[in-house]
Amino acid sequence: MENTTTSMLLTSYKLGNLTLKNRVIMAPLTRSRAGEERMPNDLMKEYYTQRASAGLIISEATVISRQGCGWLNTPGIYSDQQMKAWKPITEALHEQETPIFLQLWHAGRASHSSFQENNQLPVSASAIKPNGEYIHTPIGKQPYETPRALETEEIPGIVEDYRLAAERAKKAGFDGVEIHGANGYLIDQFLQSKSNQRTDKYGGSIENRYLFLQEIIEAVLTVFPANQVGVRLSPNGVYNDMGSPEYRELFIYVAKQLNSYGLAYIHLLDGLGFGFHELGEPMNLKDFRDVFEGTLIGNCGYTKESAGETIKEGNADLIAFGRPFISNPDLVERFTNNWPLNPEADLKIWYSFEPEGYIDFPTYQNSSKG
Ligand SMILES: Cc1cc2nc3c(=O)[nH]c(=O)nc-3n(C[C@H](O)[C@H](O)[C@H](O)COP(=O)(O)O)c2cc1C
Repeated sequence: MENTTTSMLLTSYKLGNLTLKNRVIMAPLTRSRAGEERMPNDLMKEYYTQRASAGLIISEATVISRQGCGWLNTPGIYSDQQMKAWKPITEALHEQETPIFLQLWHAGRASHSSFQENNQLPVSASAIKPNGEYIHTPIGKQPYETPRALETEEIPGIVEDYRLAAERAKKAGFDGVEIHGANGYLIDQFLQSKSNQRTDKYGGSIENRYLFLQEIIEAVLTVFPANQVGVRLSPNGVYNDMGSPEYRELFIYVAKQLNSYGLAYIHLLDGLGFGFHELGEPMNLKDFRDVFEGTLIGNCGYTKESAGETIKEGNADLIAFGRPFISNPDLVERFTNNWPLNPEADLKIWYSFEPEGYIDFPTYQNSSKG
């Protein structure tokens, strides 16, 4: 018997004009199956369709420009060809009444010159090298490079790339977009003092460091209505060498600003399972609830039980699952029927380019037949 706590996770939810069939969200998951051309394909369609029982799917991070690339074989949304190639995926999901948002990504300094046109240096808010062992690049594992700080005059061009990407996402049939402001990528690099030491209008005070995200949101809102635009944030994260002493003040400020737009949601990595900067008490969903009136998606390390509990307590409306969706295409059915989950997938298959470890995880019903 399902108890009322966990079953809340399985009730429908009104997100803007969309009715989600449950509150189990598929978190954005880079899986590197788009080939060197960064082109969505049938394999990806199969993978997403297998996971169509999610209430909402947030796509893997999808690069908005050639300059934004920093990971092998991830899909893009910077050409009309890529836009067209996404269409069969959004259509297949819509046939199953599953909405999908596209996650808009610019890696910033978490890139390498070998990804860039004419081998230029990757760009960031400031010329500060991320402290990290190495990065996987088209020419193998390489040490991180010191990025080039963007000129003030270049920034409107990047904001325009986000707008164009949103426009293509709309044409490709996505129900909305998620602006990737988390995990130490370009937007996070602008937000945080650790990576932003600019002296122009995009640096210095929290207000100035927020300006880049503000301009991106406002550009994307010329394409999609606010209730089809979400923002992802990771206030506790250390991934890609992040974590700034003013994190609490910064992210409360950001949440307050986002509140004024009537956005679809804030998607928060509140759990600490992806690393924690340990600069003070972690920020939690409640910190955001107090200042943000819209939908909150919690994520990181949730189980069916803790997700249900969090929704019941009113701290989040929706919960996103990442790793559980890699090895359980039928995660929602497993939650619904109290079926056990497949073991967590081996890290080796996360970004392996192959169909193996991607579309071959058995559903519970298939594995129990065997
Ligand atoms: C293989 C893999 C790829 C990921 N790719 C992305 C991504 O493209 N965009 C993003 O915002 N987060 C990405 N993440 C983070 C997940 O969305 C999620 O925050 C993380 O897995 C924690 O949730 P979980 O405990 O439910 O797995 C990735 C995580 C994994 C394991």
